[in-house]
Amino acid sequence: MHRIEGYVIVSADGMIADGKGEMPPSIRNDADQRFFQNALDHAAVVVHGRHSHEGGPRAARRRRLILTRQIAAFAPDSVHPNTLLWNPIGASLDAALARLGIGDGIIAVIGGTEVFSLFLPQYDAFHLSRAANATIPGGQPVFTEVGPNATPEDVLARHALKPGPRRDLDSAAGVSVVTWQR
Ligand SMILES: NC(=O)c1ccc[n+]([C@@H]2O[C@H](COP(=O)([O-])OP(=O)(O)OC[C@H]3O[C@@H](n4cnc5c(N)ncnc54)[C@H](OP(=O)(O)O)[C@@H]3O)[C@@H](O)[C@H]2O)c1
Repeated sequence: MHRIEGYVIVSADGMIADGKGEMPPSIRNDADQRFFQNALDHAAVVVHGRHSHEGGPRAARRRRLILTRQIAAFAPDSVHPNTLLWNPIGASLDAALARLGIGDGIIAVIGGTEVFSLFLPQYDAFHLSRAANATIPGGQPVFTEVGPNATPEDVLARHALKPGPRRDLDSAAGVSVVTWQR
């Protein structure tokens, strides 16, 4: 049995990075990082696009799938340990998990924008952290569907996810998390 869970921190206006594709310090938060890194330690596999490696001292221990269109289906990764490069057009998620030897457990999806959107029909849970004091004008949204008429919450609700209670991660910094579940 697998569970697919997403993890992100967004600005008040629903952005994950600035217009240059970089994550600004205004949405980086130590308490959120602890929440995120601890969750990844319990995941069976971490899934992300080519620019969204989580980093940190425990990253090399984690098994991971990195999405890229530069290959037909699968390729070994010469840079990161325990990693398979994967193009979802060429092979299913189940095939990718089998190839990496992943059994039961949590599939942790950690971005970026297109990857978060790709899994919208499949999330069992989505952990939406927010840095409420930060805005990123001209930034890059968490989902491709976010825009003037759609917040991240609207997008999650459209995909049949429902919010749980807001939990403060760092109240002084205005950082909290809401877990949305199917
Ligand atoms: N705030 C947060 O929580 C958070 C979370 C994640 C990322 N970020 C930030 O967001 C920025 C990166 O965003 P991004 O959207 O450019 O990153 P990304 O998804 O990590 O990387 C984009 C690349 O991933 C591959 N890719 C994406 N979707 C794919 C698909 N459906 N099929 C095959 N390959 C796919 C492509 O690689 P190829 O070019 O090799 O084909 C694409 O160029 C970084 O600054 C990162 O730190 C922030």
